[in-house]
Amino acid sequence: MSQGIFPVQWHENSVRLIDQTRLPAEYSVVDIHCVDDMATAITTMIVRGAPAIGVAAAFGMYLGARDYADSDRQGLLDHLEQVAILLRQTRPTAVNLFWAIDQMLKAAQARPGSVSEIQAYLLQTAQKICDDDIRTCQQIGDHGLAALPNSPEKLRILTHCNAGALATAGYGTALGVIRSAWSAGRLERVYADETRPRWQGAKLTTWECVQEGIPVTLLADTMAAHCMQQGMIDAVVVGADRIAANGDTANKIGTYSVALAAQAHGIPFFIAAPASTVDLALPEGSLIPIEQRDPEEVYLVGNQRICPEGVEFYTPAFDVTPAHLIKGIITEFGVFPPERLEAGLAGHLNAEHQG
Ligand code: MRU
Repeated sequence: MSQGIFPVQWHENSVRLIDQTRLPAEYSVVDIHCVDDMATAITTMIVRGAPAIGVAAAFGMYLGARDYADSDRQGLLDHLEQVAILLRQTRPTAVNLFWAIDQMLKAAQARPGSVSEIQAYLLQTAQKICDDDIRTCQQIGDHGLAALPNSPEKLRILTHCNAGALATAGYGTALGVIRSAWSAGRLERVYADETRPRWQGAKLTTWECVQEGIPVTLLADTMAAHCMQQGMIDAVVVGADRIAANGDTANKIGTYSVALAAQAHGIPFFIAAPASTVDLALPEGSLIPIEQRDPEEVYLVGNQRICPEGVEFYTPAFDVTPAHLIKGIITEFGVFPPERLEAGLAGHLNAEHQG
């Protein structure tokens, strides 16, 4: 079980974020008091990971609402639309951000009462989104555990990037499955890709594993296929930033190469993500917006430039793994082969809306 890594928490009238840009060298927190600072924290990746930025944006919407000092209800709703525009501009790929902002807008619109009552309700709604995410991740962990290869041996699981407690409100998606496997005594070890250019695997996934005593081996990204060829990997489990209706999945750059290598070696490749990461409005993955990042992230390692002047850069932060490479998408509602994802979720999402 997670020993309490909670990257986004409401704390003494502000939002306390674990500063993920400083790990693993330093564990520190940043208290966010206004929506502008929340937008900066998301853009600069103090908080990162699809579900975590959704939760952060939900609290950011509340902080924006709290700033509204007038008593005009429609004025508050108009102000919130502006807050939403600011937060939507922070990062384009993870759909959880847009999902959480929309949840907050809908909550404000649906809540009758005074400005201060709506503001109070928005804080409750953000807190619920946060609490629900932890529960959802635990359900993903349970379903994922049941879907892992049924072997008498303990499993060796490879993951890419960080889809752990740090990337969610707590527990994690891909790393949630790994945590559940560890708790159940079914895990031998995690292989963590370093995840160039921002090193989320090296800096964050290994840090989480070390916190919990989960055996972890760090791989340079170039080593994954070799390890598969050597028979060192039983399954791959990664997270997602946005899943199209047909199951095509955007996740951290490099995920697609891992999926191709897994297919070549007959190794099951799973996506673990909450339903809020599924974007049914997009029929397929080529429509997913891919964030381009600062070239510095590619050419600087630490403060050292690793190539000569005059070189050009290509800087996608995510890639799209086609559905046919994915064995199963592990959600809080169960595990679906990509071609059954839309139908499988529809029943659950309709039931939630009616409830
Ligand atoms: O750029 P990041 O660090 O926000 O990217 C994170 C990932 O790609 C994760 O794998 C994904 O968000 C899933 S997190 C549960």
